[in-house]
Amino acid sequence: MIQARDLVIAFDGRTIIDGIDFTVPEGSTLVLMGKNGSGKSVVLKALSGLIEYRGAIEINGTDIRELYRDRYMAGTDDINRFRIAYVFQKGGLFDSMNVFDNVAFGLRRMSVDEQSVDKMVVNSLARVGLRGSENKLISELSGGMQKRVGLARAICLNPNIIFFDDPTAGLDPILSDSIADLILEIRRSLNTTAIVTTHDSRIAEKIADSIALLYGGKIVYRGESAGFFSRENEYARQFIDGEIEGPIDIY
Ligand SMILES: Nc1ncnc2c1ncn2[C@@H]1O[C@H](COP(=O)(O)OP(=O)(O)O)[C@@H](O)[C@H]1O
Ligand SMILES: [Mg+2]
Repeated sequence: MIQARDLVIAFDGRTIIDGIDFTVPEGSTLVLMGKNGSGKSVVLKALSGLIEYRGAIEINGTDIRELYRDRYMAGTDDINRFRIAYVFQKGGLFDSMNVFDNVAFGLRRMSVDEQSVDKMVVNSLARVGLRGSENKLISELSGGMQKRVGLARAICLNPNIIFFDDPTAGLDPILSDSIADLILEIRRSLNTTAIVTTHDSRIAEKIADSIALLYGGKIVYRGESAGFFSRENEYARQFIDGEIEGPIDIY
């Protein structure tokens, strides 16, 4: 279970996230929505231990600061204790490396032996539908395939928690749909607890158990996906229907 309480994130005195709370029960998927610049990515960065925040973030009751400190101190024998993966919005792939080396990157940094690396990478690529693409360069791949490589890299350690930052950004609706299917499949096979950010309602409807809508640093809708999509409040309605009139200032 992931729990954030009174989470505040500010840069140079500018408050981006202004005291939000959410809980993601084990095995479920929270989709964090909001327009561009609303702070979706920074929430995931805080959850991943990459930026400073105020308030509390706990995973299974343990403060993540402690979790991440332990992870860095624990060294390589302990990789299975912390199976948290983060899929970057931009993919975070190395253009000049081939697919295999990109997926293997984190494993090698953890000094996993090459034989295991090989097995994990091949298995992981098969799961995202990229069997046999090991030697291709990232620059040779389409946007959709690059997203899959990012997913393969995230799942190679069988994470039980995954943060997906805007996994369908820049993809056409059909490719987006196939990525959404893949996220559902990963969740089914690994029983992951996930937080996914997106502004794409169609994708959200497909994968979310619950929805949190960010606006002005606050969560203005939080609840079951079904309630969001039945437009339970004015924010949900305006966001889904993309309307000009409503409580969200579109400018
Ligand atoms: N490292 C940073 N330093 C200063 N401002 C930042 C930093 N990261 C993000 N921001 C600001 O925080 C706001 C929210 O950004 P972001 O989380 O990327 O939005 P979203 O993912 O919802 O589009 C933006 O105004 C952005 O400029
Ligand atoms: Mg973002």
